[in-house]
Amino acid sequence: MTAIITIANQKGGVGKTTTAINLAAALALRGKKTLLIDLDPQANSTIAFYDAGEVSTSMFDVLGDSRAGLPTVIRATKDPLLFLCPGRLALAKLEQALAGQFDAPFRLKDALAPVEKDYDYMIVDTPPSLGILTVNALVAATHLLVPIQAAYFAIEGTDDLLETYERIRARPNPGLKVLGVVITLYDKRTNISKDTHGQIRSVFGEVLFKTKITKNVRLEESPAYKETIFTFAPKSPGAAEYKKLAGEVVQRVEEDRVASHAEDAA
Ligand SMILES: Nc1ncnc2c1ncn2[C@@H]1O[C@H](COP(=O)(O)OP(=O)(O)OP(=O)(O)O)[C@@H](O)[C@H]1O
Ligand SMILES: [Mg+2]
Repeated sequence: MTAIITIANQKGGVGKTTTAINLAAALALRGKKTLLIDLDPQANSTIAFYDAGEVSTSMFDVLGDSRAGLPTVIRATKDPLLFLCPGRLALAKLEQALAGQFDAPFRLKDALAPVEKDYDYMIVDTPPSLGILTVNALVAATHLLVPIQAAYFAIEGTDDLLETYERIRARPNPGLKVLGVVITLYDKRTNISKDTHGQIRSVFGEVLFKTKITKNVRLEESPAYKETIFTFAPKSPGAAEYKKLAGEVVQRVEEDRVASHAEDAA
């Protein structure tokens, strides 16, 4: 079964895209065939691989009324196991266009169904909002991964995300699970980071990944060179941390599979 991991937090600038790109790349490095899906109109995940001018078809065509098949938008990357479904500014129009369409929340799920078996992992990057694009990502996902910035007020706002998560579990996607919470932009020299780490740990407990992503300028620079951290700065702390996070992700996904099989057998 393919793990479809949606990266979401409606707070902006918390490291969703940095995590989506580098987690997807780390999974590919581990030999997992991975599809990175950019559902954010800002298209930051896409721009880390292609210039906007090189993107003619995108997730807009897949989710909008033309309903282009997903395979028509899948692009290769420099890593033979990593593929990209690009986003584009036009995606912003879908918030309006899909309003009132009864199948609106299911468009991504429907689009993924025919290609799902071709990938081990799918990673979905979402915009900083809980609108129809993020809802599509949560309806299609097997797992939710929440990046939280080590900063004051970081936890505020996760309430709304977790409420949306519970509503999606209640009806369209009862199988959805929280894979984990990852602390991002951690700076061990500051008390803010230490305080918020303690606070996040007390709220989320076991759900929190052991790996923290520290502040590292290489992670900020690599997209400008159309590289992931693993080709841009393979010896950087950012590369080591995202590799470690990928290890935890694979472990949790596999444990989850064993648990689900045991439930099915019972
Ligand atoms: N660990 C890190 N160290 C240094 N800079 C980082 C790190 N993680 C993210 N950044 C930088 O912080 C900014 C915000 O990160 P990112 O774009 O990943 O957040 P986001 O949650 O996707 O934002 P948005 O909500 O706008 O989509 C970017 O400039 C990114 O390069
Ligand atoms: Mg982003």
